[in-house]
Amino acid sequence: MLVNAKEMLEKAYEHGYGIGQFNINNLEWTKAILEACQEKNTAVILGVSEGAKKYMGGFNVVAQMVKAMDKDLGITVPVALHLDHGSYDAAKEAIEAGFTSVMFDGSSLPLDENLEKTREIVELAHSKNISVEAEVGGIGGEEDGVTSQGELANPEECKQLVDCGIDFLAAGIGNIHGVYPKDWKGLNFDRLEEIKEAVGKIPMVLHGGTGIPEEQVKKAIELGVSKININTECQIAFTKATREYFEEEKDKLSKGYDPRKVLKPGFEAIKDIVKQKVDFFDGANSADK
Ligand code: 13P
Repeated sequence: MLVNAKEMLEKAYEHGYGIGQFNINNLEWTKAILEACQEKNTAVILGVSEGAKKYMGGFNVVAQMVKAMDKDLGITVPVALHLDHGSYDAAKEAIEAGFTSVMFDGSSLPLDENLEKTREIVELAHSKNISVEAEVGGIGGEEDGVTSQGELANPEECKQLVDCGIDFLAAGIGNIHGVYPKDWKGLNFDRLEEIKEAVGKIPMVLHGGTGIPEEQVKKAIELGVSKININTECQIAFTKATREYFEEEKDKLSKGYDPRKVLKPGFEAIKDIVKQKVDFFDGANSADK
């Protein structure tokens, strides 16, 4: 059974470890992530961007597939199905379709509008026991064709967003989506501390988890980050493993053209990345805590 992400993140916050949000694109991605987290005995958040939803056919397809897979694979660790960077309309649609958690991303809107719409989504989501993430201060980089300026979120604005009743907060601290440029300055821990000071006890979210050095991730967790989003790293690992399959001409061996064989190396590569990340976040066996 799927659960919302509130309880698992509050537990992670309390015990000082991180929960991964891994984005899914299809059945293989979902299965690899669920199996890896079951083997590591950790709760997990499956992230679905609006682009991935469109690719898979719609929110209902995604919700039904994830629910059925969770059941048929006999997954016992807590699993949340979460809309990643959703618009106001998408958040409502995801709630309707059976997602257990949503991110309403109003960071590109004027602050007042972001706050007002966040309040509305919180009210609707909480009436159905669904958790809500919201964001101020865009996360840099490009995602699904949307580019927001990388910025350091304003702690006062973070506090105003938290006061809307959200369950966890995404705020820019120098992090960006995708591969980090060579001259990236790293996470801004001073700003993270200022935000934490302003918002008090609420789990924070680190977007753009791909490529952040391990010690910076660990420090962020120590300072109140409980959810780390990873997407690009799984994509790169999947594509590399798939490329190697063809470079080694494995498709020309006996029934090597079978899609189940073609997709297997990429599937295993995603599993490996997810397990490594769970270890980085100190989340192994956290489902028992
Ligand atoms: P990366 O693609 O950089 O790992 O970021 C993922 C993310 O933040 C999804 O919201």
